[in-house]
Order: sequence, then C-alpha cells, then structure tokens
Amino acid sequence: MSTSSKDYFDAIGPDWDKLRESFYSPRVRERALAVAAVEAGREAADLGAGTGFITEALLQREVRVIAVDQSAVMLEALRHKYPWPERVDTRVGEAERLPIADAAVDYAFANMYLHHVDDPAAAIGEMVRILKPGGRLVVTDLDAHDFEFLRREHHDRWMGFERQDVRRWFRAAGLTDVKVDCVGEQCCAVSERGLPAAISIFVASGTRPESSGRSPTDEQ
Ligand SMILES: C[S@@+](CC[C@H](N)C(=O)[O-])C[C@H]1O[C@@H](n2cnc3c(N)ncnc32)[C@H](O)[C@@H]1O
Repeated sequence: MSTSSKDYFDAIGPDWDKLRESFYSPRVRERALAVAAVEAGREAADLGAGTGFITEALLQREVRVIAVDQSAVMLEALRHKYPWPERVDTRVGEAERLPIADAAVDYAFANMYLHHVDDPAAAIGEMVRILKPGGRLVVTDLDAHDFEFLRREHHDRWMGFERQDVRRWFRAAGLTDVKVDCVGEQCCAVSERGLPAAISIFVASGTRPESSGRSPTDEQ
C-alpha cells in the first residue's frame, strides 16, 4: 500500500532540515520575505510550515507566526527549535480547511507546499481567506518539470507549475497586484539511481484588496 503525504512527512520529519539544505538555500525565504515587504510587529501564517524554514526568518524579523502543517511530527520539530508559544502558534491542519479565522493575518507564506496539495487552486483560495484586507500572499515553489522520481521518492503530488496557471489561480482567488517571478535559485535533488535534477523556483505574490465588497472565495 502506498503511503500518504502525511505518513511520508511524519517519517522524514526528524531528517527534513538536512534534506532541505540539500534541496534549496535560505535565499528562497529571503526573496519571499522581501517580496512581502514584511514589517516587525505583524502576524503571518506559514502554511505547510514543516520544521519552520520560513517561520525562522519571520521570527528574526519580529513577526508573530501561525505555523500550520498536516504533520504533527514536523510541527513538533518546529516547536523544539522555536519554543516560544507567544511568538509561534503551531496548528495541525489541512490545506482545504486551514485552522485560522477569516482575515486574521497580514501575510501568508507557503514554501514548497503547493506541489504537495491535492487542489492548488482551492489551497490558494484558503490562503487568501485568512488574509486581512491589504494582506500579502507569497508562494515559492517549483516551475513545471519532468523529474518523475520526485513523485515516487519524495511524494510530490504535482510536477511543478506553469507560471500562467499560478497567476490565474491568484487572480481567481481575488488577489490584485499579482506577480510571478524567478527566485534566482534552483531546487536540486538526486534520485536513488543517481539522476540529478535542477528545477527553477518561482515566487508568486498578490495582495488582498482593501475592500472588494465580497469574500475572495466568491470568485472561485
Ligand atoms: C516540502 S515540505 C516544505 C516544508 C517547509 N515549508 C520548508 O520549506 O522547509 C512540505 C510540507 O507541507 C506539508 N503539507 C503537504 N501537504 C499538505 C496539506 N494538504 N495540508 C497541510 N500541510 C501539507 C507537509 O507535511 C510538509 O511539512
């Protein structure tokens, strides 16, 4: 029987930081935070937070974080590294039903999360739902690729994304000022058989309008 995505991340949780270092560098989160223009004293959601790659950079900038992940094991590792409940609130939850109230956060970040979820457009809609008016969504993920082993060996659900699709999903979710750009870094992996992969990473961003007069989910 094949494992679920949650089983996979529960199993690799303790090793994720080491694995992640071999895939991509902190430049990815520096770019994500720069695109969001984060300000100290605000509140952010880190979706698919894992062990806290994005969370760590937000804490360094004095941004309070709600870290959500399907895997309690990944979140346990995050809490172990950042044991400050008043600064980081960890919540087990699913992409389709984020355990965060409507219009609760100033920023939503999702690094290397979208290619694991079942329905990327619905996941984007959920991330927009939790943004305050004027809040920013920033997604960093893989461009479309054909390295099939990432599905078999790393439980990827999607083989990256076409930027035009990401742009369309952001706009359909009600975001304005939508931009999709290069991070300027590749995600590198080597298959069990020794096949190397290098995949470019995009950064997609958008702003929830100050007053749209309706819920962002109405447009889906
Ligand atoms: C590739 S890891 C990235 C972790 C972290 N963002 C980072 O950059 O190190 C993907 C994370 O998304 C979580 N995830 C995958 N699918 C999810 C879903 N449907 N709902 C919630 N979390 C999910 C996984 O458990 C995992 O921790």
